[in-house]
Amino acid sequence: MKYRPINSELFIKNRKNFMAQMKPKSIAVFNSNDIYPIGADSTMPFEQHRDIFYLSGVDQEESVLFLFPDSPNENLREVLFVRETNEHISVWEGEKLTKKAATKTSGIQTIYWLQDLEKVLFEMSTYADTFYINTNEHYRANVETETREDRFSKWLLAKYPAHSVAKSNPILQSLRSVKDQIELDLMQQACNITEKGFRRILDFVKPGVWEYEIEAELLHEFVRNRSKGFAYTPIIASGNNANVLHYTENNQQCKDGDLILFDTAAEYANYSSDLSRTVPVSGKFTDRQKAVYNAVNYVKKEATKLLVPGTIWKEYHVEVGKLMTSELLKLGLLDKSDVQNEDKNWPAYKKYFMHGTSHHIGLDTHDYGLLHEPMQANNVFTVEPGIYIPDEGFGIRLEDDVVIQEQGEPFNLMGNIPIEADEIEDIMN
Ligand code: GLY
Ligand code: MN
Ligand code: MN
Repeated sequence: MKYRPINSELFIKNRKNFMAQMKPKSIAVFNSNDIYPIGADSTMPFEQHRDIFYLSGVDQEESVLFLFPDSPNENLREVLFVRETNEHISVWEGEKLTKKAATKTSGIQTIYWLQDLEKVLFEMSTYADTFYINTNEHYRANVETETREDRFSKWLLAKYPAHSVAKSNPILQSLRSVKDQIELDLMQQACNITEKGFRRILDFVKPGVWEYEIEAELLHEFVRNRSKGFAYTPIIASGNNANVLHYTENNQQCKDGDLILFDTAAEYANYSSDLSRTVPVSGKFTDRQKAVYNAVNYVKKEATKLLVPGTIWKEYHVEVGKLMTSELLKLGLLDKSDVQNEDKNWPAYKKYFMHGTSHHIGLDTHDYGLLHEPMQANNVFTVEPGIYIPDEGFGIRLEDDVVIQEQGEPFNLMGNIPIEADEIEDIMN
């Protein structure tokens, strides 16, 4: 891991909060992700499952966590299994968690090697009535792969058919959406690394530069600051590429007169940041580009003010739609009849702004959070309006990450990252 050690108080508290919501006499189980194969003996880089990370801080494959708050044996209330390490493994694969290191990372006292799992689980199961299993119920989830967690759940329920089953996911969706101060500090670090990357490319962008050269600059800056790299697949979209919302080829040359839309941000300690900025290749916006840019920036500022405790995500999007409609009218992109005749299920503004304005962010870029529940302090959201105009050869999106406060406007974790059009021009020149 490139990141600095995280205070285990965070994971101790997260487990306590989770266990407080479990039914009597129940055991919750959580697994690491698999390491996914590519072909032959090559693999994708390991990415820890965010839930076991949230509950233990353990960032290693083949780890399993059991939580059993009512265990009569107090040593079995929190149990972590990690793969056995030995000298051979440390020579070939490098350092893996020892039992002592696993305790230091997680704050869990009872650590076993993985091969003891079945025996320990059997002992625990005889005192339990219910297993909490962890299925993925994120509103955007679209998973065809059978995860390690899925395989474990199947095995568990087949082996213990007399136990009843409960869902961990709703508990995690609500807990993970409210960030602890330690998490906010980690997210701030991710945003600070993202800022360094963005400032570096403001200096680097010139007519003729290739999108992938910008990607390389960002990656360099992220990794040298202890990030694994991009928090999500980077979008570096010049000219009309910006109008392909999920453009990730990043293989075109940036032309004088075009804009470049960057949706590029660093992770830090598995926490995401999510930034979008749009800058002129030449260092100077045309009047039209600037007018559209300022409209997006205005909608972003006004939308941000709506992110306060009590706001309902769906109603917020309706309000942002109204703000955007009024800007599009001023820009001449819509006229009054477009708005009068609009389909309420797909309002006129969607022609130019067809994605959502905000999503939860945290350990996942599109993080957990129950959308029908009112917003509350320490929820972290992106704010990311855009206007996409293929007929004019450019698209603009601006995106920051903000923390909802008990009172007043949200705190912008990206408040130091240049966004005003004039400021961008000044720095680029
Ligand atoms: N970068 C992904 C998003 O903005 O939602
Ligand atoms: Mn983004
Ligand atoms: Mn986003």
